[in-house]
Order: sequence, then structure tokens, then C-alpha cells
Amino acid sequence: MQYTFEALIKLRTQILVLLIIMKPETCFVLSLLLSILCLAVGVHVRVGDDYSRSDFPVDFVFGSGTSAYQVEGAANEDGRTPSIWDTFAYAGFARGGNGDVACDTYHKYKEDAKLMVETGLDAYRFSISWSRLIPNGTGPVNPKGLQYYNNLINELISNGIQPHVTLHNFDLPQALEDDYEGWLSRDVIKDFTNYADVCFREFGDRVKYWATVNEPNIFATGSYDQGISPPQRCSPPFCIIASSKGNSTFEPYLAAHHMLLAHSSAVRLYRRKYREQQHGFVGISLYTFGTVPQTNTEKDRAACERIRTFYIGWFMEPLLHGDYPKLMKENAGARIPAFTVRESEQVKGSFDFIGIIHYSKFNVSDNSDALKTTVRDFNADSGARLLAIEDILGDTEYPMAPWALQEVLETFKTLYGNPPMFIHENGQRTASNASLDDVSRVEYMQAYIGSTLDSLRNGSNVKGYFVWSFMDAFELLDGYKSGFGLYSVDRNDPELRRYPKLSAKWYKQFLNGSRTSLVGAIELKEDSSLASLENSFQ
Ligand SMILES: *[C@@H]1O[C@H](CO)[C@@H](O)[C@H](O)[C@H]1NC(C)=O
Ligand SMILES: *[C@@H]1O[C@H](CO)[C@@H](O)[C@H](O)[C@H]1NC(C)=O
Ligand SMILES: *[C@@H]1O[C@H](CO)[C@@H](O)[C@H](O)[C@H]1NC(C)=O
Ligand SMILES: *[C@@H]1O[C@H](CO)[C@@H](O)[C@H](O)[C@H]1NC(C)=O
Ligand SMILES: *[C@@H]1O[C@H](CO)[C@@H](O)[C@H](O)[C@H]1NC(C)=O
Ligand SMILES: *[C@@H]1O[C@H](CO)[C@@H](O)[C@H](O)[C@H]1NC(C)=O
Repeated sequence: MQYTFEALIKLRTQILVLLIIMKPETCFVLSLLLSILCLAVGVHVRVGDDYSRSDFPVDFVFGSGTSAYQVEGAANEDGRTPSIWDTFAYAGFARGGNGDVACDTYHKYKEDAKLMVETGLDAYRFSISWSRLIPNGTGPVNPKGLQYYNNLINELISNGIQPHVTLHNFDLPQALEDDYEGWLSRDVIKDFTNYADVCFREFGDRVKYWATVNEPNIFATGSYDQGISPPQRCSPPFCIIASSKGNSTFEPYLAAHHMLLAHSSAVRLYRRKYREQQHGFVGISLYTFGTVPQTNTEKDRAACERIRTFYIGWFMEPLLHGDYPKLMKENAGARIPAFTVRESEQVKGSFDFIGIIHYSKFNVSDNSDALKTTVRDFNADSGARLLAIEDILGDTEYPMAPWALQEVLETFKTLYGNPPMFIHENGQRTASNASLDDVSRVEYMQAYIGSTLDSLRNGSNVKGYFVWSFMDAFELLDGYKSGFGLYSVDRNDPELRRYPKLSAKWYKQFLNGSRTSLVGAIELKEDSSLASLENSFQ
């Protein structure tokens, strides 16, 4: 298989060269033949995937990301208190792992910044641990936490790397969960706004891109409907992981409502108090996916539309128009909260950009019978069923579906006003013991960055792309069993040394202007000019 693959890639390049000198008709026939050949052996190669960075606008930002609990470690050091994610991990839900040490970025941020420079990143996306900056969620600022984020931000800036910061990434301070059930209480709006105020005030002179809540749509459903993520609340029969607390019928809607209100309150604060001086942008990131009707029927196609309304319209319609989609209000009835006139005005227009988190596609089938049952959760209310979600829950590689990212960007363009967008997360998962020659991740990145380019050329307002993730990190569900990193972290080494994967080298070459042919990527393995990457930690 490997032999066939490399041979095919070589063939493809030769054909690409031929294409340049040949007539269009011949070109078409050849590329058709090549596509059939590739399909026959299961290799997904699009001839249009040959591009370079100079095909993107000059101000298009390329970066990579991580989040606080997934990489920082030092979870119990220097005054940090636990978040709901610490609690979840300690209960054994992340394959027994936890973020106590993670990648120890808390102590190794300088080395990591050096790696970012070597990779050629324009920008680094990371999140702030609320309970490190303000232990227990409310009250005084922790000077050690403040110092850490100032150091990290200064290190990035002095190396010419733009910080893009997320305020909440599944890691609400546990104390607020204990005090008032966190996102289920309106009290969180005031505490979140105060936390955002501290961040804008302390870091906003250097940080220009802020995202408030990371994938609130998946946080609300995963954490309050299925119970698969912290704070792990749900009720039967909707739980995927059994839980003793929660109510899947309305808590996802309530938590999401408070996230929208907290988000918009932070945006309003930024606009009123900081924007004029700091000239930054505040947005929110949504989890997105492509949809495939399970069967080629009108019913399943309509189910795809409803799923989109539920997962994306849920946030985008309030952000654009100040209210939830009509369909959701009809199907969820009193279980979805109503905005007051004042709240509606505050939520409407409260974003400067949208972060797109995108990995894969799902099959969707009609489930309108669910609407006849009286006890319904979010999914039942949608009258649609997402199939094969084990794709997210497992540790296997994602199927390649670069068209799905284009579909998502097209949807935002046509239905949601084509806002400025950053691809905040996109990447391929591999087992953490997989080889450093992560050819599948290279193929994935090449295809998806190519899709981004296609969408840009078709009028999508995309401003940047961040590969998830900069290094193998502590993943929400898989713990350390799988990783998305450009860099591998040797977890058996007390120094937690980082090693570049083939994907890091590929990205580096792409960022430095090389064309993205896979041949180039495979030859990277032998390329001695990249030895410096390997040497940087030896
Ligand atoms: C956080 O809460 C705990 C328990 O209530 C308390 O002991 C501790 O002093 C608090 N820490 C801070 C920094 O407020
Ligand atoms: C969930 O909340 C609804 C509405 O308050 C209530 O009728 C139902 O009994 C609750 N379900 C559970 C499992 O607590
Ligand atoms: C997903 O849908 C496609 C197209 O309708 C179908 O061919 C495929 O078998 C489905 N996959 C699963 C896992 O059901
Ligand atoms: C990785 O770990 C899995 C499960 O423990 C094992 O089946 C597989 O052979 C390992 N792969 C490598 C390359 O070591
Ligand atoms: C390009 O944009 C046009 C207009 O929105 C749309 O009709 C078309 O489907 C788009 N093409 C792709 C590949 O998304
Ligand atoms: C980037 O590319 C230029 C020329 O294409 C080359 O001279 C330079 O060494 C490359 N930089 C790195 C860091 O690979």
C-alpha cells in the first residue's frame, strides 16, 4: 500500500508537469483517469491541491493552537485551583489521564515559542485558565497567574508571533460549579464579564484577537445533554456516560443561553471600555461539521438542514438577529429560554469574527418521529439523528472530507452574512504511539488548507487558519491515547522533549513558500535542511 501510494504520488506530479504543457481537453481526460486510479486504491488526491502560501492574501494568518488545561500542566502550582475539566479527568473520563503535567508548557513556554518560530507560525492560539488567573473564579487576581500569561504573551510578541486568545475552553473554575452550578446560573454572566475585564485590561495592549467561549454549541450538548464532557450532566435516556445530576431536556438550552449572554456582555464591555484604545476584535468559536444525508431522500436532506439550524443557527441567529431560530423555539417550546428585549439588543451584532472549529462530517438521518415523544432533548427536538458520532468519540483518524469545510464556509457565507472567519481548529487525529512520519496528517492539512483556499476564492471571508494542535496534548475524551500535534511529546521522558513530525516539516515548508505537492512532503524526511528542528531539543 505504501509503495502504491508513493508511486501514485510520483505519477501525479509527473502528470501535473504534463498538464502545464498540454491542451485543456487532454488535461481533463488525464486528470479524470488519475482521479479514478486514486479512488481505486483509496487515496484521496485532488489535482487542485497544488498551491502555495502566496495564493493566499498577504494578511492571511497561519498559526496553530492549544488550550490551557491541555498543555500547561502545573495544575496545582502557583495558586491555580481546579476547573471542571480537572474534576472530569480525575473521575477517570479521559482514559485515566489528567492535565496535572500535560506538556508542562507552564515551564517550557520559551522553548515552545522557539519551536513556533522555527515552524514559521504567524500566530499562536491558546487559552487562559480562568482558575489560574482568578482562583475560584471570582475575587482577587493571582499575581503568579498574571505573570505567567504576561511572560507567555511577551515571549510570543518578541518573537513576532501574534497571540490569539480564548477565554473559556471547557475549564470553568470548579468553585463556580460548586457555588451556583456554573453555566446553569445567571451569576456566571457577571463573573465571566469580570474575568474578561481582567484579561482585556492586563493583556489587551498586546492581544488583539479574543474568543470568548470555545465551541459553546458542543460544550452545551456534550456537557449538559449527553454528559460526555465536563461538568458531565445529563438525564436518562439521553446520557452517553451515566450521571447522577442534570436534566438533558432543558439544561443544554439554559447553559447555551448563559454563554450567549456572557459572551455578549464581554463584547459590550470591550467595545465600551477598551476598543478605542486597544483596537482589538472579539469573537466566538463554533463547532461545525459537514452533513451527508444518510439516504438520497428529501426527508434526510431536510434533516441535514434542521441539524444545521440546531447546531449553528442556535448561536448565529441570536448573534445576527437577536433571537433563536423559529424552528428551535417551536420544537423546544418553553425549554429554550427567551431573550428580553434588552438582551436581544445586546446579543445582536456582538461579534467581530466567528471562529470555525472543523474536523469532519456526519451522516444525518430523519428522526421526526422523535418529535412525537413528550420527553425530548436537543437532538430529539431537531427531529434528526447524527450518525457515526463514534468518529468523534473514538481515537481513529477522521475520514477525509475537505468538501465539508467548504460546505460549512459556504453556509456561513450565504446564510449567516459571511462574517470574518478564522479556522480556529482543524486537524487530523492519530494514535499517540503512531510514527512521526504522519503522512495522513500531511494529506489532511494539504487537502483542508486547499479547501480553505477554494472557499476564499469563492468569496468566503476567511482571515486565517490554525492547525489543531501545535503539539500532542491532553485531549478531552482520549486523554493521551491520541494526538493531533505537529510536534510529538515524549511522555516517557522526564524532560517531555518535543519532536517534529513530518506534518511540522510540511507546514514549515508551506509557510516558507513551498508549493504543497505531497512529493515534497515525503522527501522532507530526507531533507537535511530541517535538521535544526530536530536538534533544537537535543
Ligand atoms: C478558594 O476557595 C477555597 C475553598 O472555599 C478557599 O479555601 C481558598 O482560600 C480560596 N482561594 C482564593 C484565592 O480565594
Ligand atoms: C427535567 O426537567 C423537567 C422540567 O422541569 C421535569 O419535568 C423533568 O421531570 C426533569 N427530568 C429529570 C430526569 O429530572
Ligand atoms: C453515510 O451516508 C452515505 C451516503 O448516503 C452512505 O453511503 C454510507 O453508507 C453512510 N455511512 C454510514 C456509516 O451509515
Ligand atoms: C499502538 O498502541 C496500540 C494499542 O495499545 C497497539 O495495538 C499498536 O500496535 C501500537 N502501535 C505502534 C506503532 O506501536
Ligand atoms: C461558490 O459560491 C456560489 C455563490 O455562493 C455558490 O453557488 C457555489 O456553490 C459555491 N461553490 C462552492 C464549491 O462552494
Ligand atoms: C525559506 O526559503 C528560502 C528560499 O526559498 C530559503 O533560502 C530559506 O532557507 C528558507 N528558510 C527556512 C527557515 O527554511
